[in-house]
Amino acid sequence: MKHMKHVLVAGAGGGLGQALVTHYLNEGVLVTAWSRREAPFMHENLQWRVVGGYAPEQLEAETEQLNDLDGVISTLGMLHNDDFMPEKHLGAVNAKQLRHSFEVNAILPILLLEQVLPKLPRKKSAFWVQLSAKVGSITDNYLGGWYSYRASKAALNMLLKTASIELGRSHKQLIIAAIHPGTTDTQLSAPFQERLPADKLYTPELSAQRIAQVIENLTTEQSGKLLHWDGTELPY
Ligand SMILES: NC(=O)c1ccc[n+]([C@@H]2O[C@H](COP(=O)([O-])OP(=O)(O)OC[C@H]3O[C@@H](n4cnc5c(N)ncnc54)[C@H](OP(=O)(O)O)[C@@H]3O)[C@@H](O)[C@H]2O)c1
Repeated sequence: MKHMKHVLVAGAGGGLGQALVTHYLNEGVLVTAWSRREAPFMHENLQWRVVGGYAPEQLEAETEQLNDLDGVISTLGMLHNDDFMPEKHLGAVNAKQLRHSFEVNAILPILLLEQVLPKLPRKKSAFWVQLSAKVGSITDNYLGGWYSYRASKAALNMLLKTASIELGRSHKQLIIAAIHPGTTDTQLSAPFQERLPADKLYTPELSAQRIAQVIENLTTEQSGKLLHWDGTELPY
């Protein structure tokens, strides 16, 4: 996807969201940003829209305003919050955390795609990228733990793959991809950075650059895939 003019970033207020917004603005791209938070800065090419949440009924009016989109990047996701930390063992697994993780990591992203789809072109190249996670790969799970996050990201990957098959028929040039950004220094990874070697923790700016590079090189053959930040395919 070269020569982009207009990108929508959903979940623009988070660590990777803000870095992606800044990256595309620096590239001269018009950015529509959706966030539950106020704009962290102003820019002539930035349309920052505070949304009440990401459920379809909360996005109806905003979706109407979207025009000439080249693509969408959704960063929506959660690993922990004030109530939950990732489960280290089976005894910590609970329905509340599972439900909330599935809601934020899988349900909201697929409903977002459903909502925005009418605004994505049918006859020219476009992309719909959702940030996912390598730990959502079932094949790659050698460590265990993090039940809710792993399972909800695995569900996300399946939802995206399924949508890519259907939309491959109606939107032949639309590429749907899940991208693993690598461990990035944001509030999401903050509690887990201590034992990480410094060269394995990336700045949001570097990760945004890498994500944008993967997007630029996307091909229709990659639709429905889970991609690493270096562009290689990860197993489901
Ligand atoms: N950081 C990492 O190391 C890492 C590694 C692998 C994968 N990822 C994935 O990358 C994506 C971005 O992560 P990040 O590190 O930038 O995290 P972040 O700073 O926490 O951002 C996550 C975004 O998701 C939205 N969000 C979070 N909880 C929500 C909720 N309950 N309801 C609705 N929206 C909610 C927020 O959007 P607004 O506040 O703007 O509305 C926020 O911008 C996530 O999908 C994450 O799973 C991150």
